[in-house]
Amino acid sequence: MRRHLNEPTARGVANAVSRAIRDGSLDIGAKLPPIRTVARELQLSPTTVSAGWSLLARSGAIRTDGRRGTTVAETRPDSVRYQRAMERQLSFRLDLSTGTPDPELLPDLSQSLKDLTTAGTPSSYLDEPVLPALVEVLRSDWPYVAEEFAIVDGAMDALDLIIRSHLRFGDRIVVEHPTFPLLLDLLEVSGAEVIGVPVDEEGMRPSALRAALKQTCSAIILQPRAQNPTGASLTQDRARELAGIIAPTEAVVIEDDSAGSISTAAPISLGRWLPDQVLHIRSFSKSHGPDLRLAAVSGSAELLGPINARRQLGQGWSSRLLQRILLGLLTVPDAVAQVDHARQEYQRRREAVVQALAERGVHVDSSDGINIWVPVLDEAAAIVRLASQGIGVTPGTPFAVLPDQEGRIRVTVGLLADRHAEIAEQIALAARTGGWGAGR
Ligand SMILES: Cc1ncc(COP(=O)(O)O)c(C=O)c1O
Repeated sequence: MRRHLNEPTARGVANAVSRAIRDGSLDIGAKLPPIRTVARELQLSPTTVSAGWSLLARSGAIRTDGRRGTTVAETRPDSVRYQRAMERQLSFRLDLSTGTPDPELLPDLSQSLKDLTTAGTPSSYLDEPVLPALVEVLRSDWPYVAEEFAIVDGAMDALDLIIRSHLRFGDRIVVEHPTFPLLLDLLEVSGAEVIGVPVDEEGMRPSALRAALKQTCSAIILQPRAQNPTGASLTQDRARELAGIIAPTEAVVIEDDSAGSISTAAPISLGRWLPDQVLHIRSFSKSHGPDLRLAAVSGSAELLGPINARRQLGQGWSSRLLQRILLGLLTVPDAVAQVDHARQEYQRRREAVVQALAERGVHVDSSDGINIWVPVLDEAAAIVRLASQGIGVTPGTPFAVLPDQEGRIRVTVGLLADRHAEIAEQIALAARTGGWGAGR
């Protein structure tokens, strides 16, 4: 590789590896030596090589896998797990695979739009990127006293910005097992080494987190409420316990509250105990509409500073026009009442299906948000059986971080306004397909 290296920088390293791949000196699947070895050989610092590896991973040229190390990647789309989870051969009569909110339960925009009489053009590209009035409203039900806020284009944008700004190639990142596939895809292209910690009904298991943190980890990513896919929400006791385990480390806690105000659980954050270590994200996609494309992120000035600086190299800020619409939706009484109604309606729908499943011998552990995580005997058989009835659900495997014995499917029951017992019957039959024995 030395002959390919034109400049002793991260970009120089990335370019050298790219050239070596292009001219065939490095084959697809070839294993790259450890960062320290490359650094020694090229007489560069490990930080420079690591930054070069990050650039390569982001471009999809290399990939990392805890056990196999870092290898030259085949050209492929970045969102592999996500596509596997969402892949569809058929269109369904009833598609409960989407993980999206019911359009009927989103608040009406008309009043907020009527209040937007001017475009409010910024006087400078360096204007304050967040509407102060919006921050004030956010603070009123934020789960801890946060130093600063940023508004970004949804929770995925927040996660991408945080990972770009704070994490390096090869960093160890703790995530929940199971967790949503798009996060795993994002971490893979960032070159993170992902460590799974199982969740139970109250959040991450403390003993497993303690064990994971015996090695240095740069970040812990968790979903505080209505975890996708399990529906679990952190309890206060568990949050306090996890904060105590994380406090002696330097890891950043990244909280992705993607369900936001449609969760029945109250807002919760480890920021109450670790305000300097936490970045707390609240998405408005489920509560106010995925196409509003907004999320708020709180954190210390030290943690948010690099994110804002990175953002200036891209879109700069999230449209203040959209921020003003969100502000309206969070303050106009009718819109607030509609979101309250949505939360109650999702709870009613969920509980109706969970109860009907329980009556049919299928037990769902946790339940908040719009999805339920259903144990099944044979994942593929369950999906095929439901598909034959015109019902689409999401396979559980792409959500797995650790090997799992149990099959699972994720069902977006938030979309089911009625027919709960009938659909639960189909899900229960699918859950048994493949072996619980006829008649059970
Ligand atoms: C846990 C989780 N995080 C993030 C997202 C993406 O949210 P946003 O639309 O705010 O980007 C989703 C979408 O379903 C999600 O389930």
